[in-house]
Amino acid sequence: STARITVHPSFVRGHIDRRIFGSFVEHLGRAVYTGIYEPGHPTADADGFRGDVAELTRELGTTVVRYPGGNFVSNYIWEDGVGPRDDRPSRIDLAWRTIEPNEIGTDEFVAWTKKTGTEPMMAVNLGTRGAAEAAALVEYCNTSGGTTWSELRRRNGYDEPHAIRLWCLGNEMDGPWQIGHKTADDYGKIASQAAQAMRRVDPTIEFVACGSSSREMDTFGEWERVVLEHTFDDVDYISVHAYYQERDGDRQSFLASGASFEAFMHEVIATADAVAARRHSDKRIRLSVDEWNVWYIDNFAGEDNLELLEQPRLIEDVYSTIDAVVVGDLLGTLLRNADRVAIACLAQLVNVIAPIMTEPGGEAWRQTTFYPIALLAQHASGVALDARSDSPRLVTAKHGEVDAVSTVVTWNADAGELVVGLTNRSTEPVEVTIDHVGFVDASLSDARAIVADHEGPRHTAESARAAEPQPLDGVSVRDAATTLTVPAESWSFLRIA
Ligand code: AHR
Repeated sequence: STARITVHPSFVRGHIDRRIFGSFVEHLGRAVYTGIYEPGHPTADADGFRGDVAELTRELGTTVVRYPGGNFVSNYIWEDGVGPRDDRPSRIDLAWRTIEPNEIGTDEFVAWTKKTGTEPMMAVNLGTRGAAEAAALVEYCNTSGGTTWSELRRRNGYDEPHAIRLWCLGNEMDGPWQIGHKTADDYGKIASQAAQAMRRVDPTIEFVACGSSSREMDTFGEWERVVLEHTFDDVDYISVHAYYQERDGDRQSFLASGASFEAFMHEVIATADAVAARRHSDKRIRLSVDEWNVWYIDNFAGEDNLELLEQPRLIEDVYSTIDAVVVGDLLGTLLRNADRVAIACLAQLVNVIAPIMTEPGGEAWRQTTFYPIALLAQHASGVALDARSDSPRLVTAKHGEVDAVSTVVTWNADAGELVVGLTNRSTEPVEVTIDHVGFVDASLSDARAIVADHEGPRHTAESARAAEPQPLDGVSVRDAATTLTVPAESWSFLRIA
């Protein structure tokens, strides 16, 4: 079968905000302890941060990093994590039933973001706490001095303010599993109050309101509407959380996860714009997709069945090549919607449903899902184009009829480079023609693909390398068109300069 894609440099969908290549470090399992931080590890720096993990974080192209949760934040006392380490309490984290030693807190995390060239995205606790504690944290982080909280930061060794720009107003407050979860009305009120208080401390900061924990929540849609009715004037973004997994061997539906992801995002945008319409406002709330990934959540025993441990191996999913194909498609879907997606955080960065895995005292390695993210983060820049796509259709059990080939095209006018991501969700190869009249003197500079196999999870660095995108033969760039065959169940990546 065949697909035809038409692109033109003047069909611009939106500017790509680099924060789309964000990630997430939660105090969960081994994300922090033996993840980013492991004093005594052969690669650890003077502050105890693992050099190998920092290096892979840079290679992945990570921009913003959300912290400290996640479910963890909804019972977190941020004051526990600052000041002399010997005085810090150890507590039971109620979200994951884990002993939290508070060796790493806000100051250390900000120090880690500086080392890795990333930007912190801070979440506040609106589960067991409220506006006062959230405003105090902004004062601790962002006020230069002369107040109790800012002077405490300075005494703790951080003379310069942390200047944290992005703030999440709680986490998944619609979810019954969340400590202190709320109705949309109750959450909308506390989120609005917290944002107003925090903004009085620092008028330059930006806010993310909690959207639904998934498209499947019973309250989805109504939750967004009610929350935004309360917070519309206070916030800049609403969050989207979305996880996908293969169930019952239904590869086709799994490969088409991006179609559901896109519909989900469009539904949230429509709801936000409906709230704007009712207020006669031209303000446009944008999306912070601050948790997205493949997650085999069915394998997780649940929060109520956890043994109380320190640094447990929690939700350490090991990925296969089909997972890498889906992750490539999900990131392409985010980029394709660059007009409304401002921020996206892969959940998560290290060990916990992550592209980077570590062994305590041992090596750090790239999972299969690392590769498509690193390639897109490195090369997809400038603007996302509105590609007109004529693709064969595919009927899936879960998502109905979808395009067999999904496409994302980005254009960097300064570099004169088109980047094309193509996911073939079907079991047949598809011949693709990309018409690119309007791009003069186009020639191919790179063509690679990841093809899903049936071998299952890749438990070692060596076996995960099977998902390293391999050169794709038979790509021809001639005059105003590129032709190629995309293999069955694959993700392909082209650079045309
Ligand atoms: O990323 C893992 C968990 O997924 C987060 O803590 C929570 O926000 C979501 O349910």
